[in-house]
Amino acid sequence: MKNFFYPLIENPYRDKDILEAIKILKSKKLTIGPKTDEFQKYFSKKLKSKYSLMVNSGSSANLLALQCLINPYRKKRLKKGDEVLIPSLCWSTSLWPIIQSGLKPKFVDIDLKTLNINLKDLKKKISKKTKAILIVHVLGNCVDMTELMHLIKKHKLILIEDTCESLGTKFKNKYLGTFGDFSSFSFYTSHQISSGEGGMICCKNNEDHEIIKSLRAHGWSRGLKNEKKIASANKHLDRRFIFYNSGFNLRSTDIAASIGLNQFRDLDKFIKYRSINRINILRSLKKNKKIEKNIKFIEANNHVKASWFGLPILLNKNINRNKFLKKMEKMGVETRPIISGNFLKQPSVKKYNLIQNLKFINSDIVNNHGFFIGLPTSPISDKKIKKLIGAFEKSL
Ligand SMILES: Cc1ncc(COP(=O)(O)O)c(C=O)c1O
Repeated sequence: MKNFFYPLIENPYRDKDILEAIKILKSKKLTIGPKTDEFQKYFSKKLKSKYSLMVNSGSSANLLALQCLINPYRKKRLKKGDEVLIPSLCWSTSLWPIIQSGLKPKFVDIDLKTLNINLKDLKKKISKKTKAILIVHVLGNCVDMTELMHLIKKHKLILIEDTCESLGTKFKNKYLGTFGDFSSFSFYTSHQISSGEGGMICCKNNEDHEIIKSLRAHGWSRGLKNEKKIASANKHLDRRFIFYNSGFNLRSTDIAASIGLNQFRDLDKFIKYRSINRINILRSLKKNKKIEKNIKFIEANNHVKASWFGLPILLNKNINRNKFLKKMEKMGVETRPIISGNFLKQPSVKKYNLIQNLKFINSDIVNNHGFFIGLPTSPISDKKIKKLIGAFEKSL
């Protein structure tokens, strides 16, 4: 593995996180259990979200949201071919659960100021066929949620918030992931908090909560509110093994929950340091004339108190992105594309005939000129910032 002086993230696991995991290992109860319950309750309490369920990844959370929407136990459900709007700048598993659930994605371009879905393009693309919108909160930033919620209400749409990159961001003092009918979070290693693999799905009503609980674990009735009622109606079956719904196994473990919960308790501290580091790095980058001339930085949208995932950057069109990134990496700065760039350029999209004959100009710009670097969750020294600025300057 390459030794970066400025990695995407330093190893996020502190000794105190590992000690929590050891406690679980010593209890010898490793599967889903009381620690997961504790994490789910605390997550709901802090975010002021009605229901939270831990899963094994953010991808699984997205899958469960879409599968819940088409589930026969849901009174108001989506049907085959219903349209779901999604930004063209998205992650693979923001998109595929839509298709895996028999629904039809329709892509919307993004806004270069926020890197999030373009509300003007969104308005144009809402039609009678549109039943839901899946938005992606990119790297800790978001759209004007007041305007978005106005559209959602006006057109009676379902909102899914892919919050996998934005745990802890607030819009007008309300946490992202609490606006929509469903939201997903990821605790993969470089995210705002880490549990190895892991994620959370939040939803707003009991019906969805019960469906997701069942889908998460084989489709069985265990742990459902009406478990006893289901057993009485199925006396011919062993009440411990009643498969009430279709299902997956997307559960996480108490090992992951113990690490995730311990990190989540320090979320505000991580956000604070990422934010301070961002301010200090930006201040130094902007002081350098060559850098300032060739680079565009992304600011938090109005009313947004961002929980930054990283520092997104757009290079001027005259700079060759690949050459620039190669030099940066060689000098020890780890870089990443902004999500996946324009997802319509991916071979999987072509294979599944999802190409829509439309232009996604801004996603293309991000695709061809964008990248991001990490933001440490502890104070970064002036010496390191100086070295980072040097790497930028020499790579231009
Ligand atoms: C926007 C977005 N959605 C979903 C995911 C998937 O999360 P996970 O890796 O936990 O499956 C990611 C992963 O980085 C992401 O960036």
